[in-house]
Amino acid sequence: MKWHILFIALTVLCATIYAEEEEEAARLLVSKQILNKYLVENMDIVIKYTIYNTGNVAALEVEITDNSFHPDHFTHVSGELNARIDRVPPYTNVSHTVVVRPRKFGYFNFTSAEVLYRRKEDAPRLQVAVSSEPGEGLIVAYRDYDKQFSSHVSYKIDIAEKRE
Ligand SMILES: *[C@@H]1O[C@H](CO)[C@@H](O)[C@H](O)[C@H]1NC(C)=O
Ligand SMILES: *[C@@H]1O[C@H](CO)[C@@H](O)[C@H](O)[C@H]1NC(C)=O
Repeated sequence: MKWHILFIALTVLCATIYAEEEEEAARLLVSKQILNKYLVENMDIVIKYTIYNTGNVAALEVEITDNSFHPDHFTHVSGELNARIDRVPPYTNVSHTVVVRPRKFGYFNFTSAEVLYRRKEDAPRLQVAVSSEPGEGLIVAYRDYDKQFSSHVSYKIDIAEKRE
């Protein structure tokens, strides 16, 4: 009997929470972008995450985690791969930047980051979201990049020497 009443109470509570969530709650759209024009082995790759709250209340306890840069393939240079943002106000963008260096060359599939957040202060559980995926990119071997770059430099030096 007691359980029966508790069950009804819980159902009502859940229905109320659900209705409220429809009305006012945070909703995050997360984009993951690679800012580099060229991806080169052993050189910095800059990744920008933009969190946009399209909801009408602040998103709380926002945590963005990117597990896609395995230490076998990437050296972590700067920016947290697991970042915590206490609050993203409504209709506001917050961005976060990470720098990594690829250890290997070849094609690499840049996949999404995961985001957890509370849709409103009294939300009973965290919301899970994923970022956009930059997709597959070609990481050029350093020696190929270096060849092109150094031939360009020596060309400039030749010109300078001829002028003297
Ligand atoms: C936030 O970013 C989104 C997507 O880049 C853009 O459409 C929107 O206008 C931006 N909003 C603000 C308030 O800067
Ligand atoms: C990259 O990874 C995503 C997610 O795992 C997958 O859907 C997509 O097909 C992959 N793309 C390539 C080119 O392998």
